[in-house]
Amino acid sequence: MQCEVQSGSLLDAAADLAVLLHTEDEPLPTPVTDLCEAGDATGRWNQQTLLYPRGTLPARRLLLIGIGKRSAITADTVRQAAALAAQRAQELKVTTYHLGYNGNLPLAPAVFGQAFAEGSVLGSYRYVRYKSDREEPPSLNAILQAGADAEVAAAGVQRGHIIARATAFARDLANGPGNEVTPAFLGQTALEMGERLGLKVMVLDKPQLIEQGFGGILAVGQGSANEPRFIVMEHGAAGNGPTICLVGKGITFDTGGISIKPAEKMDEMKMDMSGAAAVFGAMQAVAELQVPLHVVGIVCAAENMPSGAAYRPGDIIRTLSGKTVEVLNTDAEGRIVLADGLYYAQRYQPAAIVDLATLTGAIMVALGPHAAGLMGNNQELANRLIAAGEATAERVWQLPLWEEYRDAMKSEIADLKNTGGRYGGAITAAVFLAAFVGDYPWAHLDIAGTAWVEKPVRTYQSRGATGIGVRLLVEWLQGYVGAQG
Ligand code: BES
Ligand code: MN
Ligand code: ZN
Repeated sequence: MQCEVQSGSLLDAAADLAVLLHTEDEPLPTPVTDLCEAGDATGRWNQQTLLYPRGTLPARRLLLIGIGKRSAITADTVRQAAALAAQRAQELKVTTYHLGYNGNLPLAPAVFGQAFAEGSVLGSYRYVRYKSDREEPPSLNAILQAGADAEVAAAGVQRGHIIARATAFARDLANGPGNEVTPAFLGQTALEMGERLGLKVMVLDKPQLIEQGFGGILAVGQGSANEPRFIVMEHGAAGNGPTICLVGKGITFDTGGISIKPAEKMDEMKMDMSGAAAVFGAMQAVAELQVPLHVVGIVCAAENMPSGAAYRPGDIIRTLSGKTVEVLNTDAEGRIVLADGLYYAQRYQPAAIVDLATLTGAIMVALGPHAAGLMGNNQELANRLIAAGEATAERVWQLPLWEEYRDAMKSEIADLKNTGGRYGGAITAAVFLAAFVGDYPWAHLDIAGTAWVEKPVRTYQSRGATGIGVRLLVEWLQGYVGAQG
């Protein structure tokens, strides 16, 4: 998918397909009103009307897409409408289409352009890598007709294109099956990204993890033939802007281990590295956007398998931090690998640590598929993430980390235990993580409910991985740059 901007008007474009976004409260331009029965195209959200102008306009086809009331339009309205346009273009098998807005843009042109590119790229995304009989879809070319705003819109389109491709990259990783996307595969992916994007990359393999004491990652990974990896990717350098650490849970398949999960839907646990995928996607985007920050992407990669070598309930393990953990349930593995990654992050003396993890079923019970859970130790950081969530429609909702919750994770015989019972499960998981971040500003995003959709919630999603977190992180990091002045 290529996205461009042109300055002319949509109705003058000699296009195979012209897509006009129109609202409920603004009149359609006259040549269009003559083409459809009065009152048919109301502008109601997601109403689609395909017209054949037959010479009355330069375009061969005209698609009207209703986007609701002008006052209610947000970036996500444009993102979703652009996705609908891309999908319709694919169905109609056109390779180039033009999209325009009926009247003055309802948003800042750069915001509109960014949302247009994001919606177009993500709306046409499908995971078809393993379909032998698929027709190679023609490469689509989406042109935004932005009139006098073309120049400013173009900057947004370029940003949106980079961010959306990074999101698609994260989706590819999370959609990838456990037999392909192993910890070693993630390590290899990081090394390739290093070459491609000029990131500094370090990948530790099992002997190196043993030597350096990564007891958490090693314990979780010890049951699998696919050995664990610890991955660090660096964009920029210390002293060159503040340091931000992004830490991703990279369980490439979560069977539950000896505390094994039921068979039903276990296949979906190939997405248990969605936090890691978000870190990979965000690293690609910050490198391509040349964000002036020192961003460190940390991935804790392991496969959680039952076997004769697997860790067991009752085991006591010593994490990288030196803190000991009593394992009560081997299915609460994410927090154990993150313990090592979060502790490691402290060595950068970061201005902020943000971790992303498909950590608990409890967050799905609490928030469903419409928001990620947010917990942390710094309200300013939390507020910034909440704002970035609103701006990107990757919403986050904060849950408390009150002191009273801490008791739940205390062990009689070790420093911590790895489960705190069913009640408040998303919070007690975060309480566990908090023990490994020291006093650094930290936020935890539990994306278990938002990383995967059986049925798309938004038009620019497709069945499977959502790539959640990439757009949110990039928005937050760009705001961070702004706040530095
Ligand atoms: N990866 C799962 C959480 C999950 C569940 C992600 C469903 C996506 C969809 C995690 O490792 C897990 O198994 N958590 C347990 C923790 C419990 C044993 C304390 C859970 O939530 O049941
Ligand atoms: Mn688990
Ligand atoms: Zn898991």
